[in-house]
Amino acid sequence: MTDYRRLRVALLGAGAVGSQVADLLRKHADELADRAGAALDLVGIAVRNLDAPRDADLPQELFTTDPEALLVGSDIVIELMGGIEPARTNILQALNAGADVVTANKALLATHGPEIFDAADQVGASVYYEAAAAGAIPIIRPLRDSLAGDRVKRIMGIVNGTTNYILDRMDREGSEFADVLADAQSLGYAEADPTADIEGYDAAQKAAILASLAFHTAVPLDAVHREGITKIDKQMMDAARHAGFVIKLLAVCERLEGAPRYPAEPAAEVTADGEAISVRVYPALVPRDHPLASVHGANNAVFVEAEAAGSLMFYGAGAGGVQTASAVLGDVVSAARRHIAGGVGVGESTRANLPVVPIGRVTTSYQITLEVDDRPGVLATVAGILSEGRVSIATVEQTIVAEPNGDAGRARIVIGTHRAVEQDLSDTVDRLASSGVVDRVVSVLRVEGD
Ligand code: NDP
Ligand code: HSE
Repeated sequence: MTDYRRLRVALLGAGAVGSQVADLLRKHADELADRAGAALDLVGIAVRNLDAPRDADLPQELFTTDPEALLVGSDIVIELMGGIEPARTNILQALNAGADVVTANKALLATHGPEIFDAADQVGASVYYEAAAAGAIPIIRPLRDSLAGDRVKRIMGIVNGTTNYILDRMDREGSEFADVLADAQSLGYAEADPTADIEGYDAAQKAAILASLAFHTAVPLDAVHREGITKIDKQMMDAARHAGFVIKLLAVCERLEGAPRYPAEPAAEVTADGEAISVRVYPALVPRDHPLASVHGANNAVFVEAEAAGSLMFYGAGAGGVQTASAVLGDVVSAARRHIAGGVGVGESTRANLPVVPIGRVTTSYQITLEVDDRPGVLATVAGILSEGRVSIATVEQTIVAEPNGDAGRARIVIGTHRAVEQDLSDTVDRLASSGVVDRVVSVLRVEGD
């Protein structure tokens, strides 16, 4: 083996991802050294519990419960503990001590990214975070490096493996939500608190990270519109299938040019030349023939639409210990090369700092499912309310759901709309609900990729 300079690598965390990173660092030491131009010495692994079983066979003497002690003298610090503290403090300590940092911690970057990137800039170090969005899929590097000379218009994708795994099994097997969530947890896809996955927080964090990079804007997490999948039930899945759709939890990051000045727009919501962005996460209907519809299991897929490059698609494992470890190790090699070469780090750009519009300003098409009395005039009333609300009907399907003896039957109406402004749509649904002709608004789902 070439006589490389030796770099000290500290690992914080040896859970689903960290244990695999430690394992691969040791197993692939020679290949990594040749790629990095330096030998990477794993000097220690910080954990909470020294006696916890590990997914990889690692020497016990590497383990410590004192992350701070491990940082001293380290060249590269890999943070895989997750959560905000002590991860934030340890990363800042590592940067201030001259280390380059690799992390997969989207929760931290989505909330404290600017603080961490500023700290890295101050000391001329770098923070690498390929694994923080879409697991094993290279998406951060393409957005930051490969597309640096292009202008991203839209990112749309499945960025949470747990929810895709759950929705996919509900769709394909007719499984119940709770059963498949337990499986996703046991397979190591879900976050320590799975609420982060199923309520869309994890996807929103990733959307904030991707949009920040793509649009040269520090996107605060609370500007990301977020809805989870807990309201999606078997009935909605069946209805979606019947109508030729599949339900997916999507992250959509969109540049709005000449942003519509509607309904009444506070000046701060767009730049002088009408530019703004929308960043949102919600379960949406995706046509069955759209490539995102065939993303199964815990896989992720991200579409990027750029002005010059056109449409690009990134696909692969969005979660899982060893898969995510692959992305982490790629970053470790980049960090090692930079550590040796010195000079300017990767740097984050917030030069555009575009305003993020609220969800009410977003335009999409919808599918509205209503339960109504099956009697003359009901459909006409519904159509009238939609028309008054500036919501244009694209398709209507009615089915009789029950017909009790002698009484008027009940009908289910599924209305597909043309693109409408979200605020108009939600006001219209409120008016439908209180119109006296609608028994129940069964569901309102946005349609993407149509
Ligand atoms: P785990 O919960 O499996 O592991 C966390 C590890 O950190 C454990 O080894 C734990 O120690 C250690 N740890 C936690 N708090 C402390 C502390 N205060 N001091 C010392 N050690 C601590 O997490 P994952 O491996 O699943 O995830 C790690 C990171 O990677 C997270 O940011 C996550 O969001 C991200 N990520 C995870 C993916 C996945 O598929 N799992 C995919 C992409 C990103 P102990 O074992 O003793 O409890
Ligand atoms: N819990 C996350 C997911 C892990 O399911 O996608 C990967 O970030």
